[in-house]
Amino acid sequence: MKALILSGGKGTRLRPITYTGAKQLIPVANKPILFYGIEAIKEAGINDFGVIVGDTKEEIKEAIGDGSKWKIKVTYIEQEAPLGLAHAVKIAEDYLEDTPFVMYLGDNILKEGVKGFVQKFKDKNPNALILLTSVSNPESFGVAELDELSRVKKLVEKPKNPKSNLALVGVYLFDKNIFKAVKAIKPSWRNELEITDAIQWLLNKGYTVESHKVSGWWKDTGKPEDVLSANRLILESIEKDIKGELIDSTIEGKVIIEEGAKVIKSTIRGPVIIGENTKIINSYIGPFTSVNSEVIIERSEIENSIVMKKSIIKNLERRIDESLIGREVKIFASSRKPMVNRFILGERSKVEVLQ
Ligand code: TTP
Repeated sequence: MKALILSGGKGTRLRPITYTGAKQLIPVANKPILFYGIEAIKEAGINDFGVIVGDTKEEIKEAIGDGSKWKIKVTYIEQEAPLGLAHAVKIAEDYLEDTPFVMYLGDNILKEGVKGFVQKFKDKNPNALILLTSVSNPESFGVAELDELSRVKKLVEKPKNPKSNLALVGVYLFDKNIFKAVKAIKPSWRNELEITDAIQWLLNKGYTVESHKVSGWWKDTGKPEDVLSANRLILESIEKDIKGELIDSTIEGKVIIEEGAKVIKSTIRGPVIIGENTKIINSYIGPFTSVNSEVIIERSEIENSIVMKKSIIKNLERRIDESLIGREVKIFASSRKPMVNRFILGERSKVEVLQ
């Protein structure tokens, strides 16, 4: 089998972070979201990867490279614009040829990986296998209606009156018949070729579409709160590992401190990960925080947040909570007069200050 990972798209819901970087490379527990998908597919025994790239292609190519890090073969496929998930399949036909494949949305993370899902496809040999999960708000998702043998009867995109609570997860398995479907369907109202329409086409033509329910958690990291929630879920399963230096500091619970990091006169309450060459000085780092490499946090408190590479946080009186802080960001408190807030913020930045 082959894999098709979708790493194009615009990531509008994650601006401003996605003005300067690909959303699939946002670090969760200090590892790009995309790498969790690559590793899950590799673990299912697949070594041949096609990667769909868009505007952020240079950054994605730099991160994945030739795939030798994972001992996989990588072929990049350029999509001229995010014209839909089914459009991505269409332009990948020359790469995929007749080989069945797993299609994986590069901003999704699944706890259980995809091994069981791929095995089910091999055992049952349907034309398509879709992954489903129960959600409390099916009206926000693509929803599947199943028959009593859990074969898929119908797919509805964001239904007003959902007939089931089973949402489509961003991982799909297809055989070559999907190419007939993606060529036959027309763009939707949002001018995208929708994968739900392609799967519905398969159903209408009598092809078999089976489903598999996810047992562990699943996260589509489309919005900032989803990224923070994925960060919490991943940090929950880390193990303590201290490689950096601790000076007059207290460490509680599961904490990873990477090589070259220094924690001085600080308290760290896990689960927390502190990246390489980061300095934490006179500070408190609370549960569910991922601090990336070469960051400086001094005389400040932070929890339940992600801090990306090379940012600096100093002298804050109030604790930072539930925040997504990009690369090379500077947050300072100043005692200079007049006592004002000063900001230099990019488009669509979001700042919440206490009154
Ligand atoms: P989405 O989250 O549906 O789209 P998006 O990345 O454009 O985000 P937003 O809605 O915030 O603007 O995409 C799911 C995944 O598939 C994501 O990793 C991007 C990728 N993708 C493509 O590679 N090509 C496409 O044409 C589309 C629509 C998405």
